[in-house]
Amino acid sequence: MCERAVRGGARIIRAMDGRPIGVFDSGVGGLTVLHELLVTLPHEDAVYLGDNARLPYGPRPLGEVRRFALEVGRHLEAEGVKLVVVACNTATAAGLPDLQRALGVPVVGVLHPEAHAAALATRNRRVGLLATEATVASRRYEELVHAHDAGVQVVAVPCPRLVPLIEGPDPFGEETTQAVREVASPLKDAGVDTVILGCTHYPIIRPIFQRVFGRAVTLVFSADETAREVSETLARKRIENVEDREGRVRFLTTGEPTDFAEMGKRFLQLPVRDVERVTLAGAAPQAA
Ligand code: DGL
Repeated sequence: MCERAVRGGARIIRAMDGRPIGVFDSGVGGLTVLHELLVTLPHEDAVYLGDNARLPYGPRPLGEVRRFALEVGRHLEAEGVKLVVVACNTATAAGLPDLQRALGVPVVGVLHPEAHAAALATRNRRVGLLATEATVASRRYEELVHAHDAGVQVVAVPCPRLVPLIEGPDPFGEETTQAVREVASPLKDAGVDTVILGCTHYPIIRPIFQRVFGRAVTLVFSADETAREVSETLARKRIENVEDREGRVRFLTTGEPTDFAEMGKRFLQLPVRDVERVTLAGAAPQAA
């Protein structure tokens, strides 16, 4: 679809694509990426899908997470999205190339922007990584950081407790601070000056990480870099929507819609209404 306009006497043709952007995560973590998309691209519509029925992805084998990611990606494509954002480090680590091969629309992940930013930010060339077990096991961050600077040492610590605590009833409680202290300790001992927070859930407890690591350590998050990459992809492929409108967001979950609405509102600081429950093709229905 095209929009014709006359600017300064010259006739220009502007691409216009009203299809939404698809965004997914295992739960509410990807809302940290959605937030940055809303800031960067307020005129675009979005469909957010949380695979809450199968959360957490982190302790699962990479092959299983890859299968889940393909099911969610195909569902979003069937919803008519023009681009898919894998707003989940675990799913990106497990299956980004497979998703890119399987889908007919562009697919943007969250690992490359963070690895790039960390390789640039470190001064002593010692970078810490906090992420889920599956993301750490994939070793994708090491590969991507080394693609920028093969001399950087990456110290990776899996954090199995953090996602359940963040999705739990008391995300900002003492147990969360204690869990962050425990995973930070080996990184402090290793003398890293930069830490990749390699899970989209982690920005939700950003102040806790900042207090535990202090000012001397640079914390790297992927959400704003990812939003920038999405914006550039839409522009280069000429599939942006027109700018003089306010975008809308549809929320889908494989879990309990009322739980998703409550958590979503808390973390996004936006009313999250009309959450739709979806069943993914290939996924076994959940027991009631
Ligand atoms: N937010 C996710 C990530 O970025 C998923 C965490 C999980 O489900 O274990 O890795």
